[in-house]
Amino acid sequence: MTFNEILERRRAINFFDPDRDVSDELLREIIADAAKSPSSFNLQPWKLKVVRDPERKAALRAVASDQPKVTEAPVVLIVLGDRDGWKEGNDTLEKHFRNNLVPEQRDWFLGTTAALYGNSPEAGQAFANKNAGLFAMSFMYAASARGLHTHPMDGFDHEGVRREFNIPDNYWVPMLIAVGHLKPGIEIAPKAWRQSVDEIILD
Ligand SMILES: Cc1cc2nc3c(=O)[nH]c(=O)nc-3n(C[C@H](O)[C@H](O)[C@H](O)COP(=O)(O)O)c2cc1C
Repeated sequence: MTFNEILERRRAINFFDPDRDVSDELLREIIADAAKSPSSFNLQPWKLKVVRDPERKAALRAVASDQPKVTEAPVVLIVLGDRDGWKEGNDTLEKHFRNNLVPEQRDWFLGTTAALYGNSPEAGQAFANKNAGLFAMSFMYAASARGLHTHPMDGFDHEGVRREFNIPDNYWVPMLIAVGHLKPGIEIAPKAWRQSVDEIILD
């Protein structure tokens, strides 16, 4: 598939085939693709909760505006953005530091990330969500490239999801992503209106 075909093929589909699973192997391949996404200072402040169990999906649906796709799709991802992903001692930051940086860079590195992402709660929130959003987008294109369909959702009760899935305070949930196959017999509606290039570019 060309990139353009992947781009056109990706749609937020509403009807998933509940009888067609997504293997763990395929899901892991797509997650590995998405892990190649860019991130602020390569801090990769994203994590996933993978929800497959029908009872857990029903619990998720109950706090996700009762959206049927949450239980119809074989897999629903809870995307997490780590608001503390720029702080000293954060596990992912420390791994990045060990793998990619030298000790002499540590003070500069921590000072710079604290100045950028630690200067207000909004900055930390934006840090988590922009990076997790890029990861989520890559995930959806990678899933499209591998023949799957997805649906991103922010129609959910954030605190309800946090409570139901024991999500620690440092994580924000930018979206859920339903993953699976299109239900047979469903025709996908034509792509909805998009802004033109001229509308997107501001003077
Ligand atoms: C962050 C985000 C949250 C969304 N939340 C929902 C949702 O909760 N429920 C829903 O039906 N669609 C949701 N959508 C899907 C959008 O309505 C859809 O992407 C948009 O209409 C464009 O259609 P397309 O993705 O098929 O091109 C969401 C999309 C994004 C990117």
